[in-house]
Amino acid sequence: MEIIRIPQIMQDITRTYIMHNKTIGFVPTMGALHEGHLSLVKMARAENEITVVSIYVNPTQFGPAEDLSQYPRNIEGDTEKLTGEGVDILFLPVGSLMYPDAFSTRVEVEGLSRRLCGLYRPGHFSGVATVVTKLFNLVRPVRAYFGQKDFQQTVIIKQMVKDLDMGIDIVVCPTIREEDGLAMSSRNLYLTREQRAAAAIIYKCLTEASEAMKSGIIKVAELKELMGKRLASESLVSEIQYCSAYNPDTLDELEQIGNETLLAIALKIGETRLIDNILVAAGQ
Ligand code: PAJ
Repeated sequence: MEIIRIPQIMQDITRTYIMHNKTIGFVPTMGALHEGHLSLVKMARAENEITVVSIYVNPTQFGPAEDLSQYPRNIEGDTEKLTGEGVDILFLPVGSLMYPDAFSTRVEVEGLSRRLCGLYRPGHFSGVATVVTKLFNLVRPVRAYFGQKDFQQTVIIKQMVKDLDMGIDIVVCPTIREEDGLAMSSRNLYLTREQRAAAAIIYKCLTEASEAMKSGIIKVAELKELMGKRLASESLVSEIQYCSAYNPDTLDELEQIGNETLLAIALKIGETRLIDNILVAAGQ
């Protein structure tokens, strides 16, 4: 596996691959890699001739009170895992070359960025859209792989690719979970043992809500109450940010269960913010 740190060199390599008609599959990450990330890598490997993975803890998507400085970093372990997966190129861009002093552009996907997580993390999705645009321009993939775990991120990236004619196929891969259902996340590393056990409530709450839908609840107010009560029953949950049913295309909160419904939760356990979601198809 080749490790590239200079954006310009990444772009030169990409140009050579494209000249030779090689398909590039790309997995952008912020590192501290777990099986969730690796599932995207496996998918990229299976569908493309060249697989590029980036690790970059992007400062512009963290708010001033967020965990940028504490965000888990494990480059050695990550490098080993990616070598094991047969990745061709690991792109580890140097921060000062990604955002030099004169940097002055931001990509904003309006509307979608202001819903769900966007309400609690102002500027976050603009930071994501900007860095993903830069990474796409450097790597120029045919396909890029994202996890359903960050559902809103996938909707925003798809909209951005469409609006800006980027011509990249966005592949959304299923959420990989721990045995008790907790969605794998680099942020799970922040949890104490007790908090980690309590965090299983999130997926339990989602599956119970989907069962309730199957048994005939169609009013979202009712479903929301059920979910809220379930989450509140766990004393280590310190804040519920959102917890409801949404239209998966527009991310608008529903009043009645629609054809395909996104059930999504964001909450804090102690100071750690966790998110999860499931999609429930009509008649399921
Ligand atoms: P990061 O949180 O490192 O996630 C990288 C990719 O892995 C994202 O597409 C995310 O949805 C996916 N992922 C994380 N946990 C997953 C799980 N349990 N199952 C399946 N996929 C999972 O998302 C980011 O980084 C950044 O915002 C980024 C897109 C790299 C831009 O900086």
